[in-house]
Amino acid sequence: MHSPAPPSLRRTLGPVQLTLMGVGAIIGTGIFVLTGTAAAGGPGHVGAGPSLIISFVMTGVACGLAGLCYAEFASMMPVAGSAYTYATAAFGRLVGWIIGWDLLLEYGVGNVAVAIGWSGYLQGLLALGGLALPAWLGTDPMTAARLAPDVLAGAPHVLGMPVVINLPAVLVVLAITALLCLGTSESARVNAVLVLVKLTMIGLFLWVGIRHVDPVNWTPFAPNGFGGTLTGAALVFFAYIGFDAVSTTAEEAKRPQRDVPIGILASLLVCTVLYVAVAAVLTGMVPTAALANAEPVAAALRAVGAGGVAAVVSVGAVLSMASVLLVMQLGQTRVLFAMSRDGLLPERMARVHPRFRTPAFATVLTGAFVAVGAGLVDISAAAELTNIGTLFAFALVSGGVWWLRRTQPEAERPFRVPALGLVAALSILSCVGLMLGLPPQTWVRFGVWLAVGLVVYALYGRPHARRAAPPSPLAVPSPGAPPTLTPLPA
Ligand code: ALA
Repeated sequence: MHSPAPPSLRRTLGPVQLTLMGVGAIIGTGIFVLTGTAAAGGPGHVGAGPSLIISFVMTGVACGLAGLCYAEFASMMPVAGSAYTYATAAFGRLVGWIIGWDLLLEYGVGNVAVAIGWSGYLQGLLALGGLALPAWLGTDPMTAARLAPDVLAGAPHVLGMPVVINLPAVLVVLAITALLCLGTSESARVNAVLVLVKLTMIGLFLWVGIRHVDPVNWTPFAPNGFGGTLTGAALVFFAYIGFDAVSTTAEEAKRPQRDVPIGILASLLVCTVLYVAVAAVLTGMVPTAALANAEPVAAALRAVGAGGVAAVVSVGAVLSMASVLLVMQLGQTRVLFAMSRDGLLPERMARVHPRFRTPAFATVLTGAFVAVGAGLVDISAAAELTNIGTLFAFALVSGGVWWLRRTQPEAERPFRVPALGLVAALSILSCVGLMLGLPPQTWVRFGVWLAVGLVVYALYGRPHARRAAPPSPLAVPSPGAPPTLTPLPA
């Protein structure tokens, strides 16, 4: 028995769920882990000190500019695929492919970093309960080789090779993958609960922490001058990544042209306000040097004698990072889904599971890719690669929305960015500025990644790009041509 049409994605998400999706993707490792070294400094970089507050404002403004551009695009083309679809429409197949390939860095490699951060917090909690994992099961081989040769020596050996793996990071990715296979609305419901937990934890931290703020800790405000503040901004950029994941779920939104822009901008606004407040309270509670660790929020609470609250907040951090994993992985599969539907990737990636109505194959494949990375890769390598890939996507989306206003002024735009020329130019400048702040090694890795992508495009994507896309109830882009700008039925 064959059904008349292949199963499609299901429209279940409203504006509140989309905003919660955004918050779910945004608040996580960045605020709970990376604020520590961004404020206090770390290997190879100086700290922002209390001027981290300004770093968060600067990055929030940069992301807000890019967010406005995403919102206009999302209202014009409410189809799955996000920046991939937008770049294809603006600049054609090749640039679309480059961005789609690049988004693997944002969502896939980004989730590698988040899973590693999650594992670190979980292991801290397990150790508190006397259940510490053996080091060879809680570390990646890259970190072990660089910082802890004793872990390599103490690990079991198979065929003479030490077995070292970050097992909790692998397991959490596999659990998230299973959930995503089951259904988008189920995932959105789990996400909504996790978001409520994370907002409660941040509220709890602010409520307790604000009573312990001593303005003396805010001086000197910028111990390393503006350079330190800028470096802080480049690092905490990671904390904002994720608002654009809302746009990847446009085909599952009930009224995408109205609700996706709301989801993007509202989640960004909520998180910017919370981040600035957390940075102000955190740097006011303790001297900056006390934040130089992997759990700065919990450490600051412990330092002011609120150890019980610190433990609760740590549990909240673990849950927060799980929701980041959930939404980012959802976003990744939807980008693969859109690329496959256009023929750039094997058709199987766009197949929707008949019972769960999710792109189960793409979900499992993404889960496997992220799980392998999470088990074996080092967190800073993953986070820096994520930042450069995401900034590149933001810059191209900002250029693309401006370009389309010029080349297709008649297209319907339910949401229009005011003063677009200025907004897009400032967005591109701020993205490129932040990219330049990343280490040369990250640029090399990024270049290699794009070069591999071009080879895959030449060997597979380009020859298959004109193949007919699988039918869909939506007005999907015609095969071999840039996506249409015709508004789609809600
Ligand atoms: N913004 C996400 C986080 O901070 C990626 O974990």
